[in-house]
Amino acid sequence: MKAYKLPQAAGIGSLTLLEVPTPQPGRGQALVRMRACSLNYRDLMVAGGRYARGSVPAGLVPLSDGAGEVAAVGAGVSRVRVGDRVAGIFMQSWLGGQIGPEDHRSALGGAIDGVLAEYVVFDQEGLVHLPDAYAFEEGATLPCAALTAWHALFHQGALLPGHSVLVLGTGGVSIFALQFAHAAGARVIATSSSPEKLDHALALGATDGIDYHATPDWQDAVLRLTGGRGVDHVIEVGGAGTLARSLQAVRLGGTVHMIGVLTGQAEIDPMPIMRRSLTVRGVYVGSREMFLAMNRAIAFHDLHPVIDKVFPFAEAPAAYRHLERQAHVGKVVIRVD
Ligand SMILES: NC(=O)c1ccc[n+]([C@@H]2O[C@H](COP(=O)([O-])OP(=O)(O)OC[C@H]3O[C@@H](n4cnc5c(N)ncnc54)[C@H](OP(=O)(O)O)[C@@H]3O)[C@@H](O)[C@H]2O)c1
Repeated sequence: MKAYKLPQAAGIGSLTLLEVPTPQPGRGQALVRMRACSLNYRDLMVAGGRYARGSVPAGLVPLSDGAGEVAAVGAGVSRVRVGDRVAGIFMQSWLGGQIGPEDHRSALGGAIDGVLAEYVVFDQEGLVHLPDAYAFEEGATLPCAALTAWHALFHQGALLPGHSVLVLGTGGVSIFALQFAHAAGARVIATSSSPEKLDHALALGATDGIDYHATPDWQDAVLRLTGGRGVDHVIEVGGAGTLARSLQAVRLGGTVHMIGVLTGQAEIDPMPIMRRSLTVRGVYVGSREMFLAMNRAIAFHDLHPVIDKVFPFAEAPAAYRHLERQAHVGKVVIRVD
């Protein structure tokens, strides 16, 4: 079978397509024929050697997110059957409850081999069934970006109808957060680098869009739009370049869900967190239990991911470059054909 590997993490050019033996499922394991994978910003960091330095092994099969069909099962497998349509969970060992240190060591496409291959063996516990109405390309978008947004809003955020949510930019996590919050009856304010992308966000249900290039003090625009109160939740994916403004855009006692570092890492001033009684909470993807809850909501609301572009397997490096250009809205997918 064919698989991509990263012999060194020296950039997208390091991606190497290799012919390797097809793995076989052992006891409790399932062999999945991968049909589609999706990219996350993390995958650019992994390929460039910028992700959790020291914890990513050389020769890694990259990507956390993929969907496919079960091709064979080992002895003792009861959770899935041959032919089932499944996706792998981001942290293979985080099934429910609180996250533990061992879960970090089970993250696909980071600590352990990922899914950019024609066949992948998973422990049966590390799989979930796709929503029935989902194509493989859609299912492949769920494990990281969708689940992170879901976890932030509903497991730690306790989002209610009538709450307001600020999403930063129109990448994978932010667009899923927009869709989930809108479906739950919340008001969504979106920022973006481009008016065209903001139009897309408005079409998906955002009530307001702010161009952060034209309006660099976008936190003031958020306050104006909310009558001076601020939003209940911020889906904070920007990191150093956006966090100080996010702390101003959120209401007194509101929550900043700390998810990403698109603009890098930096020290922050703790004063606004204290004076404004804010909750700033880190989110690291989510558990299998959360994934199953999310899939029930997706099926009930018939929600579908926004897929910007699908690339063939042979052009995986081009898919990475497309994500790196940040011209996309939502998700970038690789079809494994
Ligand atoms: N903690 C977790 O579990 C977790 C899970 C998933 C992702 N993440 C992190 O979350 C971040 C987003 O990941 P992703 O996969 O959704 O990324 P992505 O799809 O690559 O999103 C990139 C988009 O972010 C927007 N953006 C870039 N700079 C921005 C800025 N200064 N202000 C506002 N928006 C900006 C741009 O959209 P516009 O052009 O519309 O502005 C850009 O197209 C990354 O740092 C990633 O590592 C964390």
